[in-house]
Amino acid sequence: MTRFVGQGAGKLILTGEHAVVYGWPALAIAVDRGVKATIEATDGPTHAVAGTPDDPRLKAALIQALGREGWRVTLESDLPLGRGMGSSAAIAVALVRARAAAEQRSISPDDVFELAFSIERIFHGTPSGLDHAVSSRGGLLRYVKGPPPHFTPLPCPRLTLVVLDSGSAGNTKDMVDQVRKQGEPAQRILARIGALVPQVEAALNDGPALGALLTQNHALLRELGVSSDRLDQLVQLALDAGAWGAKLAGAGGGGVVIALCADPAPLLASAAQHHIDAFICTPAPPCEVQ
Ligand code: PMV
Repeated sequence: MTRFVGQGAGKLILTGEHAVVYGWPALAIAVDRGVKATIEATDGPTHAVAGTPDDPRLKAALIQALGREGWRVTLESDLPLGRGMGSSAAIAVALVRARAAAEQRSISPDDVFELAFSIERIFHGTPSGLDHAVSSRGGLLRYVKGPPPHFTPLPCPRLTLVVLDSGSAGNTKDMVDQVRKQGEPAQRILARIGALVPQVEAALNDGPALGALLTQNHALLRELGVSSDRLDQLVQLALDAGAWGAKLAGAGGGGVVIALCADPAPLLASAAQHHIDAFICTPAPPCEVQ
């Protein structure tokens, strides 16, 4: 039976999460981890192979991407799920590309973005679009949500990012709702995050300056109420191990911390000593049009 494959990259938000929902820019980078979707024609309903997490949102996403009938789907991922690394966006992008491959169509990044958006809404309600913008385009992106969305590809700096897994998933929709309910006080913090974004962009090739801005960003996210004791501890662990800076990445509540390091070895050693899952992420280059 012929198989068709699509891939979607994971992402890390360098700065601007939550603020991006209110129209501020955000910077995010595609990483060398992601999701591969393999689809093959079958009689009967579209379904995921045994062993796929039993999540009703995932079932709805498969139907949205491929239709009710006719596809057997295998998803392979090396992204930790629900950890702010864009796993649902990567699934959406991988499914859209797999379908285009099955229909022998080339598909532009704009079309991948639009189609993946309808799938991302199943997972996240009203996402800004940042995750699948990065997943569909690769590289480093400045993103401003639409309509119409603005994508500005930026030159990829040579960053060594260590990812520290908090061990628990954050719920993006709940975290976004929690921020919205805070009203005006949250808007003041979001504006301060928004003001950091151009500073981060200007410091992309200056490790110590960039690190300090990331740590500042984390402090603002903590003020916003989306950090947790565990995430704060991981930021401190990174700083104690000599990182230039660290912050939670994604919606928060759980998920991951990213740390910018000149030398990742001491942080990886410290994480291992504390039984924390840690790994290095390398930026993935911009995608070629399929
Ligand atoms: O947790 P993630 O990776 O889905 O990131 C969410 C980023 C937010 O700004 C909090 C929400 C959004 O839709 O942009």
